Amino acid sequence: MAFNMDDISDQSGRLAIVTGSNSGLGYETALAMAKKGLKVVMACRSLDKAEAEKSHILAEVPNGDLEILQVDLSKLASVRNAAEEFRSKHDKLDILVNNAGIMFPPYLKTEDGFESQMAANCFGHFLFTSLLIDLIPDSPDSRITWLSSSAHKTGKINFEDINFEKKYTKTVSYGQSKLACLMYALELDRKLKTAGKKIKSNSAHPGGADTDLSRNMSQWILGLMKYTILPFITHSAADGALPTLEATLALTAEGGQYYGPQGFLEMSGPSGVGTIAKHALDIDISKKLWQISEKLTGAIFHL
Ligand SMILES: NC(=O)c1ccc[n+]([C@@H]2O[C@H](COP(=O)([O-])OP(=O)(O)OC[C@H]3O[C@@H](n4cnc5c(N)ncnc54)[C@H](OP(=O)(O)O)[C@@H]3O)[C@@H](O)[C@H]2O)c1
Repeated sequence: MAFNMDDISDQSGRLAIVTGSNSGLGYETALAMAKKGLKVVMACRSLDKAEAEKSHILAEVPNGDLEILQVDLSKLASVRNAAEEFRSKHDKLDILVNNAGIMFPPYLKTEDGFESQMAANCFGHFLFTSLLIDLIPDSPDSRITWLSSSAHKTGKINFEDINFEKKYTKTVSYGQSKLACLMYALELDRKLKTAGKKIKSNSAHPGGADTDLSRNMSQWILGLMKYTILPFITHSAADGALPTLEATLALTAEGGQYYGPQGFLEMSGPSGVGTIAKHALDIDISKKLWQISEKLTGAIFHL
């Protein structure tokens, strides 16, 4: 049976962080969680945008419990500060949704020396998770969810040049970053199981969702797609958020899984278990990626 938010019970007393919740899928995820009584920490880089979207959520959910946490996931120092700020206010975290992301920007090297898609989509979330994971109760309801994409299917981890210093192709970097998010989800779940923990780490993708993610694409091409192919392969941001909500809130959701739309080409439709590309299940590559990510970010996971 397809996942349905109506089946999710009241979540009062539980706390979630959703990164990038001032826009698109993150906003819809935070809104749906607030409706179910969860306290939601909106982890966003722009306080102004976060305040504006917090007001929009409160307009729909007047008794919603929302907090804003400033974080720029493309900067390790900001990630460390945000984790410290969260820890100074809370001693427990039930759900972490690693949602924030960028797609196809021009090449930019961050202050930590990372390519910007790898920084924001992957390394920032990797460090953030390591700094908060000990606050997550050891329960099957505790979830860490990583946003991946169908783009993982064409992704490849280029260990020779993981930050694209030799050659940058924006689509290749995006594919690598979304494959890495999926590999982090699966590898973390394996590590949690090995440590005897009940916390579930899994991943989700929205298929094609109508959000601002495409802001770096050619507006001409986008305009053309809007009147041709896009209506067949996209759905609303609210529908695109359902796989994230299934992964984080459904009692039946498994750890080490990939949730996504079940319709044509897995691009839209009701949420369910999606198809993981074979190369994303490669344990040796996942372990190597994990080790490199630990080295680059200084992350230490206390499981
Ligand atoms: N839309 C799709 O069809 C689709 C398909 C596959 C996967 N996804 C994934 O879904 C996730 C959400 O994307 P979306 O479609 O909802 O796009 P979106 O509307 O552009 O939202 C992206 C969010 O991430 C935030 N963000 C970007 N860089 C950040 C940083 N350095 N630090 C903190 N926050 C940052 C943005 O903040 P600002 O507003 O400040 O920029 C925004 O809140 C991404 O991980 C994306 O890869 C989306």
